[in-house]
Amino acid sequence: MIGACSGRPVSITGLGCYAPERVLTNDELSETVDTSDEWIQTRTGIKERRIAAPEEATSDLSLLAAEAALADAGVTAPEIDLVVVATITPDMLFPSTAALVADRLGAVNAAAYDLSAGCTGFVYALTQGYGAIAAGLARRVLVIGADTLSRVVDWSDRSTCVLFGDGAGAVVIEEVGKGGFRAFDLGADGAGAMELFVPAGGSRRPSSPETIAAGEHYLKMNGREVYKFATRILVSSAEAVLATAGRSVGDVDLYVPHQANVRIIEHAAKRLKIGEDRVFVNADLYGNTSSASIPLALEDARTGGRLRDGTLVLMTGMGAGLTWGSSLMTWTEKGETDGH
Ligand code: ACO
Repeated sequence: MIGACSGRPVSITGLGCYAPERVLTNDELSETVDTSDEWIQTRTGIKERRIAAPEEATSDLSLLAAEAALADAGVTAPEIDLVVVATITPDMLFPSTAALVADRLGAVNAAAYDLSAGCTGFVYALTQGYGAIAAGLARRVLVIGADTLSRVVDWSDRSTCVLFGDGAGAVVIEEVGKGGFRAFDLGADGAGAMELFVPAGGSRRPSSPETIAAGEHYLKMNGREVYKFATRILVSSAEAVLATAGRSVGDVDLYVPHQANVRIIEHAAKRLKIGEDRVFVNADLYGNTSSASIPLALEDARTGGRLRDGTLVLMTGMGAGLTWGSSLMTWTEKGETDGH
């Protein structure tokens, strides 16, 4: 699915994030599995990640991020028409985490559902939110990317446990005066489904003492294949969305890719010819937080003064499915371009 945005401009008008307090460093990990700070930093660029407290689930992380995003947008919960939570670690198989979050927020006028697209979830959900507003079905959409991957990671598997962390990011999207979303490119290739997956706990292989004994409730990944896919798709999807929007790589002010791994990001940026000064990286501080990684990066970029009114932002997510998604947008600071 690919297309340029036409019609009235729609943009992000509020952004908020939450990362659990507990910091887990590489050195701590190397006390429990056979790894080292040096190996992890060289292969992934990750220094530390956040881990949710035992009583925190994805809806708790989401709620805190959502409250911050609403406050940032100056929007109240009853003004939200749709809540989409992109996650692969919902509180429960059902009901949706989005319904739980909408209830606790007081978003009494909103439809609410979860969206499963792996680490691409946030970009998929942004596209859905944009579509609902552009079609006239909603005025304000709350898009949340949240994951508690620490709950599905096998902490005895050094090839995966060093990569992931927990977090949540939320945005409010609505019509604005100018700027906003320019184009989207989304794709999926289910032929790669088994490169990154949790084997048990669904309808094909319900949880049982046997699946648990075999560790099938944990995330499994073919790291090399995912690496090849990620480096290829980051380039092709970025090129596709830019061409669709009639823009070039040189126009991009800030490149905010999914923060899977610094090596993957550097490889893609080099192939795209986007200089370091235009690439945003914070995977060193959070690891791979799946659906939360792009909003967490947007937040840190804004705090660091790299995201301002008029900044042309290129975001690309990629992950389980396999899925990928890019969005090109002109950042909008509420009050500057929305005509209020
Ligand atoms: N510490 C020390 N050694 C390790 C560790 C570790 N944490 N993990 C693996 N190794 C060992 C392996 O056992 C192997 O040893 P061997 O040669 O004796 O067999 C050696 O290191 C090399 O292993 P490789 O898997 O070849 O290492 P590679 O250089 O490919 O890096 C990595 C592995 C970092 C996982 C890489 O494949 C990668 O980045 N893949 C992408 C994964 C990813 O980002 N997934 C996120 C989800 S999807 C997404 O967001 C895109």
